[in-house]
Amino acid sequence: MLPQSLSHVRLAPSILAAPLHNIAALGAQLEASVADWVHIDVMDGEFVPNLTFGMPIVQAFRPYTTKVLDVHLMIVRPERYIAAFAAAGANVLTVHLEACPHLHSVLSQIKAAGMRTGLALNPHTPISQAIPVLHMVDVLCLMSVNPGFGGQAFIPQTIGRIAEALALKEVHNPLMQIEIDGGVTMANARQIAEAGADVLVAGSSVFNANGLAHNLSSLRHLLDLAS
Ligand code: DX5
Ligand code: ZN
Repeated sequence: MLPQSLSHVRLAPSILAAPLHNIAALGAQLEASVADWVHIDVMDGEFVPNLTFGMPIVQAFRPYTTKVLDVHLMIVRPERYIAAFAAAGANVLTVHLEACPHLHSVLSQIKAAGMRTGLALNPHTPISQAIPVLHMVDVLCLMSVNPGFGGQAFIPQTIGRIAEALALKEVHNPLMQIEIDGGVTMANARQIAEAGADVLVAGSSVFNANGLAHNLSSLRHLLDLAS
């Protein structure tokens, strides 16, 4: 049974869409907002075509926020940087199933480094491939766009995948959180949460001219409305 209230759903603004000229100001803005997590997209130009930022940005944010730093690694051989992201202050470290031939080992290393484990799946990857490691996953991140860029449209088939993930979560790891990443907007957030998502990542729909605080409060309000 899905809970009636969606107040447990966590909001994770993605700084991929944010101006980065003043990390201190952005950190303070996020800290003061109703954001629960801060989502940091690390891209290597190899696993995904785009190139973004690495450990120094995580480290730069850390002093300005007590929120969960949710680091999404879209990189090959992520095991190279587990210790460095832990030292930088990451709380959740997410790796892609498609990038990890030794996934069990990588997740174990993340846990041993004191972080929560995240496992991301591309939109085409069968969720069943995650079953053997699901018991060691704290956050299952279902990509609802093809990773690499912000501002893409939500892939509607994700709703069915959330239902699938929810069924597996109940059997294999009831405490696991299901995170949805990509194309989350005011128009679809409620539907995604009702389908069973626990964490909503949002980039371009919260960092825009309407202002971060306003957008996040609107999202929060939307989710907290009685169903
Ligand atoms: C895409 C990233 C997402 C991205 C989401 O590869 O993993 O986290 O920032 O951006 P929006 O919300 O604009 O789709
Ligand atoms: Zn992401």
